[in-house]
Amino acid sequence: MTKEILRKHLSKSNFYTTYGKIAKIVGTTVEATGLVCNIGDVCRVKSTTGEKELLAEVVGFVDNRVILMPYEDIEGIGYGSIVKNTNAKLMVKVSDALIGRTVNALCEPIDDLGDVGVTGEAMEGFDAVGSAVNNVDGDGKWYSIQGVSSNPMKRPPIKEPIQIGVKAIDGMLTIGKGQRMGIFAGSGVGKSTLMGMIARNVVADVNVIALVGERGRELLEFINRDLGPEGLKRSVVVVATSDQPAMMRSKCALTATTIAEYFRDQGKDVLLMMDNLTRYCMAQREIGLSAGELPVARGYTPSIYATLPKLLERSGNFTNGSITGIYAVLVEGDDSNEPISDTVRGIIDGHIMLSRKIAMRNHYPSIDVLGSVSRLMSEIATPEHKSVAGEMRKLMAAYQDSQDLISIGAYKSGSNPTLDIAVRKIESINAFLQQPTTTGVAFEDTIAQMQEIINN
Ligand SMILES: Nc1ncnc2c1ncn2[C@@H]1O[C@H](COP(=O)(O)OP(=O)(O)OP(=O)(O)O)[C@@H](O)[C@H]1O
Ligand SMILES: [Mg+2]
Repeated sequence: MTKEILRKHLSKSNFYTTYGKIAKIVGTTVEATGLVCNIGDVCRVKSTTGEKELLAEVVGFVDNRVILMPYEDIEGIGYGSIVKNTNAKLMVKVSDALIGRTVNALCEPIDDLGDVGVTGEAMEGFDAVGSAVNNVDGDGKWYSIQGVSSNPMKRPPIKEPIQIGVKAIDGMLTIGKGQRMGIFAGSGVGKSTLMGMIARNVVADVNVIALVGERGRELLEFINRDLGPEGLKRSVVVVATSDQPAMMRSKCALTATTIAEYFRDQGKDVLLMMDNLTRYCMAQREIGLSAGELPVARGYTPSIYATLPKLLERSGNFTNGSITGIYAVLVEGDDSNEPISDTVRGIIDGHIMLSRKIAMRNHYPSIDVLGSVSRLMSEIATPEHKSVAGEMRKLMAAYQDSQDLISIGAYKSGSNPTLDIAVRKIESINAFLQQPTTTGVAFEDTIAQMQEIINN
């Protein structure tokens, strides 16, 4: 009888240990032995004195060891510290209370405005919900930050434009609801300022803004100056500054996308903005190299080519709502063929190039219209709109081709009718393309202004 009970008991018990010990720390990479776990499992690491406890994620295995990347500073833990597997993947609790708030990469508020239905001890919830996805819990929902892949057959085509409020974009590079656009520029050319301008002026139900790897000083600047109280009222800001561990910078992009998915599931049109995607890739590079991957291009590891499309495919048009994605990409060394810019351009539905040359002329937003494209504009813009935009492009291109001749006075008017019109209208075209950051322009007004320039 006792044997029977014992056998029954043993058949239910878990023979695998979920505890391990730290055997090595190199830089910010922690190696543990004796731990039974899967990739992506969140573990707790406790210092030998018991004073310090932190969370870390399993990112790889080398020989008999488990490679972990911590979510926090590793100060205080060391050889022999205990590692416990929570047997859960990272999840965040999302709710409507997030609107108007600033949270960190684990969706915990950092703005001193109180609770958002997400407790500081988010991990406790993980144990309770296990691996359940989209589990209802109180006034919020637990979402896996990895997202749930959607059936491409169930994605409706993008038909409707979204009003960005920036004339150069709405007029010349129209973006559709659910489209994914990149803003590409070298450092200091105006990416963040343009993102702020869009966040303030766009017509969307909710903005989710991820600030990945930005300078700490820029956060308040962005919230107070660029977003303003009006913009913040319908936005969720997710932040991981440059001094935070790679894991947090990487999760920041995923958490923001997850929050956007929550609002999309409510049937809303969401604008997801990321400043910037290159910093996410850099964080992924740090994680990949720590996990033992080999660097392939500029130190980036092969997994970046799998994680990038996975992240970018999560925005788009869906049957119940839409996530329009605007991703800033830092073009390293102003080389637009560097691997991240090149890869991102190939995945998304259009690119807005910012030009240092244009910014130097104090022309803001410094968009190089002729070098930019919205791949869906021809499908979503009206025929009248397409016609004036095409005409404006033609005049700008004609002027640009002969700019050197014109500036030295070598062009004789009358020799090229298109160029004559371009020379006459270039001032008003440039004036149209410039816009102060504080003013948004309605879609119809933008088109009316374009018609005014082209038809007169
Ligand atoms: N619309 C604008 N109007 C006036 N000045 C601007 C505008 N956009 C950018 N600038 C100028 O360019 C500077 C850099 O802009 P911003 O910080 O937006 O660039 P960035 O591309 O985000 O830079 P980084 O790569 O360093 O993040 C600003 O401090 C400002 O002086
Ligand atoms: Mg910036």
